[in-house]
Amino acid sequence: MYRLAAVNLLLCTFAYLLHTGWAVKCSSKDGPSVQQTQTGFGRPPTFMVEVQNKCPTCPVINVHLKCGSFSQALVNPRLLKVVAYGDCVINSGLPFQPLQKFFFNYTHQKYLMHPSTWNFQCE
Ligand SMILES: *[C@@H]1O[C@H](CO)[C@@H](O)[C@H](O)[C@H]1NC(C)=O
Repeated sequence: MYRLAAVNLLLCTFAYLLHTGWAVKCSSKDGPSVQQTQTGFGRPPTFMVEVQNKCPTCPVINVHLKCGSFSQALVNPRLLKVVAYGDCVINSGLPFQPLQKFFFNYTHQKYLMHPSTWNFQCE
């Protein structure tokens, strides 16, 4: 009887692991990072923006940034598309692999940019 219970527990644990996956899925706290480095010191200055998918296990898609009054004229829309005032999407919303980095540059007074929304593709 005890043995049966033990086997049952083992099977349940295994089924649970199969269901949830061995790898840890990512949640909102693992959202992409945005880092800006000044690379040009003219007037106006130049900034290199690095966006990284911080999730080690899942691709991320549809990464939007809060981008203030960022002007589309400053960057190729395939890199950063200004969708609406204050709403920019990077890489046309296409996937970034786990831990992948993405870069673009602009020459202007610094814009504050922060990730606003994104979707993990954990499967
Ligand atoms: C951004 O600037 C850096 C440093 O000047 C350069 O190496 C890189 O190729 C540029 N990236 C893009 C996407 O233009």
